[in-house]
Amino acid sequence: MSNNELPNSVLAENAEDIGSNPSGNPTMGDIIASRLSRRDVMRGALAVTAVSAAVSPAALLAACSGETTTTPSFSFAEISAGIDETHHVASGYDTDILIRWGDKVLADAPAFDPAKQTSDAQARQFGYNNDFIGFIPLDGSSDHGLLVVNHEYTNAELMRAGVDPKAGKAVAFDKITADEIAIEMMAHGGSVIEIRREKAGDVKTRGKWAVVADSKYARRITAETEMRISGPAAGHERMMTKADPTGLAVHGMLNNCAGATTPWGTWLTCEENINGYFWGKGALNKVADAASFKRYGIPAEWYYWAKVHDRFDMSKEPNEANRFGWVVEIDPLDPASVPVKRTALGRFKHEGAGNIVNRDGRFVVYQGDDERFEYVYRFVTRRPVDMDNRANNKDILDEGTLYVARFDADGTGVWLPLEYAQGPLTAASGFRNQGDVVIHARIAADLLGATKMDRPEDIEANPKTGKVYVMLTNNSKRSTAAVDAANPRADNRFGHIIEITPDGGDHTARTFAWEVLVQCGDPGLAEVGATFNPRTTSSGWFGMPDNCAVDAMGRLWVATDGNSAATTGRADGIWAMETKGEERGTSKLFFRCPVGAEMCGPCFTPDLETFFVAVQHPGEGDDKEPSTFDKPITRWPDFKSGMPPRPAVVAITKRGGGKIAM
Ligand code: FEO
Ligand code: CA
Ligand code: CA
Ligand code: CA
Repeated sequence: MSNNELPNSVLAENAEDIGSNPSGNPTMGDIIASRLSRRDVMRGALAVTAVSAAVSPAALLAACSGETTTTPSFSFAEISAGIDETHHVASGYDTDILIRWGDKVLADAPAFDPAKQTSDAQARQFGYNNDFIGFIPLDGSSDHGLLVVNHEYTNAELMRAGVDPKAGKAVAFDKITADEIAIEMMAHGGSVIEIRREKAGDVKTRGKWAVVADSKYARRITAETEMRISGPAAGHERMMTKADPTGLAVHGMLNNCAGATTPWGTWLTCEENINGYFWGKGALNKVADAASFKRYGIPAEWYYWAKVHDRFDMSKEPNEANRFGWVVEIDPLDPASVPVKRTALGRFKHEGAGNIVNRDGRFVVYQGDDERFEYVYRFVTRRPVDMDNRANNKDILDEGTLYVARFDADGTGVWLPLEYAQGPLTAASGFRNQGDVVIHARIAADLLGATKMDRPEDIEANPKTGKVYVMLTNNSKRSTAAVDAANPRADNRFGHIIEITPDGGDHTARTFAWEVLVQCGDPGLAEVGATFNPRTTSSGWFGMPDNCAVDAMGRLWVATDGNSAATTGRADGIWAMETKGEERGTSKLFFRCPVGAEMCGPCFTPDLETFFVAVQHPGEGDDKEPSTFDKPITRWPDFKSGMPPRPAVVAITKRGGGKIAM
């Protein structure tokens, strides 16, 4: 979920962002905004100055890359940036809607009727706002596997009739019914579906992907699914509630944004903006730990579930909020398995869980805490992964060390361990055990002097090169005084990408080198300070990098969240990003979303012949252009009257077969 694109009821909350510095320099943003609004007039005049004014990535190449490749590594014809009611893909590729909000997941799910939706139906149908997508091959096949998909949040105004996005919280709270709350809760969580690509007679014309209708793996995870709590916070007193005096069991996962799959075939799904589900600002000062809750922006009162569920009301059950904000591990191969909240990985607003098996066999998970001025984390398991015996990896994520990153001005960095009794993490600072450290990971990271970043989103390690890519989506609240080497722009509206090189190629090393791969935004506007390679076309640049994927060839693909008519004059989409040689810093537009949507879940099959992408919140409006169930700005992907826009997973394949962008 983008803090830029939250429903109107939520937008007011951004003023409360934790740790934000009051901007000392609003002028810069004002200049950019006014120039963006004159974009079409200005573009021609600015094009020349921009190239010379921007830092030239080409000039930096010799210093940052030993490669001398001159050939672009992505082979496809770029599409034009723009924005309209539907999606677009590079020519020669097919896009098929694999599954949409409301489609059957469980075999006994009723047909979707948005005008007569029920919680019982929603609990069996594909949930709302698909975000992360993971593909888990069955029998080693790239044509048959499980797709695991997160359902991050719900857009009430697009899901049902009669919701006025401008009505305000008090009205919305008063109006919402218990049934509507139940539908929203069932539309959250995740889905497991079995999918198969039917083989046609001729390998060159392989068939289309389809969901297996009666799969034994089919599963819906919701905001009520029973889960287990493991790791250092399991059984901790801060995790105990009236409903669960053991502190070991919790119902549901919330706001699951991005995630990852593991080499042993499990799904890591990451709870992000959990503050929005909790209610009771008025009661907060009476609650023990009030300062810690505030550090997490809890309660933010975005959803109205506390109206019927006491557990979301801080005045009644304050500890419930400590039971969210975790990485959840789910075994999709065992539909009866209980999802596990792996608390050793820390509690914060997790974006994803990009991971790699280190050369010594230990498992390393890179994690971003997606909020302005929050941190980049890494978790390293104590034990190596057992690639031969899956069972031995069952609880491997419960033991290990959580670190937070400090990026130093000289282009090096240090991973600082969040370990109880080390450094400042002692009773004198309020930490009595490792459970306290992981529950209050943000506060522990503050004490260690971690670097405040411009909203860390996805982080992916490239197994081919050992490099690690960090998407920093934006931070309009960074002041000139608060600029640092790793977050070099004040009023950073368009974000940047950092490339980390672990020392000695060791992902468990305490130190690393880093550099900015690209500062995003329109290179045609000198004030923006974008640093795309000048070979990047006027369609090839983007703002607000969010999710990303590294494909089987070791190439980087970037999905964005926050491009719009108002911000960059283009829809969100997928850009292919060169990282090596003279092409480094060149990006190219491959797929673009319908209006209102953000691009999530980029995921390739191992054979690189299918690219799954998640179109999230298509038709979501904003203050200037509200969009509702009754009057949406698009009805993608069905375009049928009465049918609202539907978040959906799209399967992209090359017409006639073959690998993507090869
Ligand atoms: Fe849910 Fe950070 O995007
Ligand atoms: Ca999102
Ligand atoms: Ca985002
Ligand atoms: Ca995201």
